[in-house]
Amino acid sequence: MNGRSLMTSTLAVAAAALACVIAFTTATAGHASDEAAPIYGITIPAGYRHWELVSVAHEAADFDDLRAMLGNAVAMKAFRSGTLPFPDGAIIARLAWKYVPSAENNKVFGRDQSFIAGAATNVQFMVKDSKKYAASGGWGYAEFINGKPAAEAVHKTCFPCHEPAKDKDYVFTHYAP
Ligand code: HEC
Repeated sequence: MNGRSLMTSTLAVAAAALACVIAFTTATAGHASDEAAPIYGITIPAGYRHWELVSVAHEAADFDDLRAMLGNAVAMKAFRSGTLPFPDGAIIARLAWKYVPSAENNKVFGRDQSFIAGAATNVQFMVKDSKKYAASGGWGYAEFINGKPAAEAVHKTCFPCHEPAKDKDYVFTHYAP
């Protein structure tokens, strides 16, 4: 092999490796899935795991979880400026994990006080499209468990439970500065 063909093949291998890294990153960033959720036909938005943080919440009782709300650029702009209703194109994600004690952190604090995010439970989305989702306050709803859409019965519960927040365009979470 002469110098030039060695360099050409080295470059080809490097390019192939880079392509694999890009494909892998795209597939794993936010568990992108092609399968649409029932009723509203929403798929997992690409790259949602890189969106900005709106706020966090902790639900006790049956849920016993920790939650983080993330917003895409359209949603974040509306949250920060207090714009209501949210404009079309806004998407809010709600991630949740089991609420578990951290033995590792407790050791450092010298007592039992630390709780952290455990296994992921599910991820939910609200997608604003005032025409398409006019029948449900302008929002489409979707829930995924391990990247797979939850059952249709689950999706029937979303809008009725968000209705009490009608004054805030059906969104409960306030922007945490
Ligand atoms: C029992 C009532 C209830 C049901 C059912 C429900 N939600 Fe919510 N949802 C809430 C409340 C309360 C919050 C805010 C606090 C929290 O997350 O715990 C919330 C928060 C959210 C958020 C973050 C934006 C916001 O409004 O604060 C999204 C996104 C969301 N829910 C989507 C869904 C989807 C999708 C479904 C159906 C699969 C659903 N919700 C079903 C009560 C409900």
